[in-house]
Amino acid sequence: MLGNFSYCNPTKLYFGEDSLEYLNTELPKYGDNVLLVYGGGSIKKNGIYDAVIDILKKNNKNVAEVSGVMPNPTLEKLYEGLEIARAHNTDFILAVGGGSVCDYSKAVSVSIHCDEDPWEKYYIKFEEPTCEIVPVGCILTMVGTGSEMNAGSVITNRSAKLKIGHVFADEAVMPRFSILNPRYTMTLPKYQMVAGIYDIFNHICEQYFSGDDDNTSDYISEGLMRSLLVSSRKAVKNPNDYEARSNIMWTATWALNTLVAKGKSTDWMVHMLGQAVGAYTDATHGMTLAAVSLPYYRYISQYGLKKFARFAQNVWGINPQGKSDEELSQEGLDKMEAWMREIGLVMNITDLGATEDMIEGIADATLILDGGYKVFTRDEVVDILKKSM
Ligand code: NZQ
Ligand code: ZN
Repeated sequence: MLGNFSYCNPTKLYFGEDSLEYLNTELPKYGDNVLLVYGGGSIKKNGIYDAVIDILKKNNKNVAEVSGVMPNPTLEKLYEGLEIARAHNTDFILAVGGGSVCDYSKAVSVSIHCDEDPWEKYYIKFEEPTCEIVPVGCILTMVGTGSEMNAGSVITNRSAKLKIGHVFADEAVMPRFSILNPRYTMTLPKYQMVAGIYDIFNHICEQYFSGDDDNTSDYISEGLMRSLLVSSRKAVKNPNDYEARSNIMWTATWALNTLVAKGKSTDWMVHMLGQAVGAYTDATHGMTLAAVSLPYYRYISQYGLKKFARFAQNVWGINPQGKSDEELSQEGLDKMEAWMREIGLVMNITDLGATEDMIEGIADATLILDGGYKVFTRDEVVDILKKSM
């Protein structure tokens, strides 16, 4: 049964090969002082930077830059960007990059006019902004996180060894618009592409594996997963397959723009484990999820057998004839493992740099959430981490 909810997603999307043109439509809506935020330089190599600067100039914008936003953006980098943003009297933030750049830009946006320490306020106390929120627009170059159409922002505090995401309730934190050109994602290294593909898949799993009611969101999720399986296989064989890359981009957005969570509880424990692994290893987000997923789902499936049996049939096409829910569940997860290996994901945390002596610390950094089929104990967290080595 669907519970009570409200649904509003204010992010306007421009999709396709011609989508950058619409930056000209959006820029006049905001003030002149633009903060351009980007990562370690991929946009300078592939020409996106020049194209964006050209449009900013044509629109007579006064541009300051924050460059070098790293994957898994850090709190130190946030403080650095805030100084630049404040000195520039920023009216509008333009994020050009992947989830890290988009997340970081949202963190800047809610902190520019905030008198309190943003880490304490937003990532420890999980408070909502009480100050003016500077609007953000995104030009996406890496696919996976869904940050282009949600209010999530993940920041890593390296000294505290914590990587924490805040999904803001305030819709004003969502990007005002996002420009999604699948062509831009084609210069991504294969490692990043498949990490993003698994990030998408896992976002759907986190929202699918909960409850045993009949829920529209679960049918949407199954459709998204099936599309992703088809397109991921095509994209791995031929990364220049525009059709596959465009489907993956669109699936990513719908996987985490809050739609498929509506009316449901959600799990998110794979992300909590993955983020804690990330805090210790700085590994690529999607790979941290892949590395802990199978031990987690193989363990949790006993508490949600019906849904795991349904997953086997509706996502992996397994014929249920004469099979128990246990058998179906196991077969489904075996097929999922085969797909994960086929597309080239990292399947254990050792390969991401985690060592035995980190396990206790990673367990401490793992936030335990309810909403899935079982609320974990700390011992269970340790057990899953050990099985993920
Ligand atoms: O920094 P540059 O040089 O741009 O290189 C980036 C980076 O090294 C590169 N890249 C991006 N676009 C490229 C490209 N290289 C070549 N061609 C292009 N077109 O890719 C690397 C990874 O980029 P990053 O932005 O870090 O990847 P992703 O989009 O996976 O973002 C990861 C961050 O998002 C958070 C993660 O925890 C992590 O910090 N998440 C955010 C979520 C949200 N807002 O809802 C949810 C997710 O679950 C996730 O936690
Ligand atoms: Zn994710």
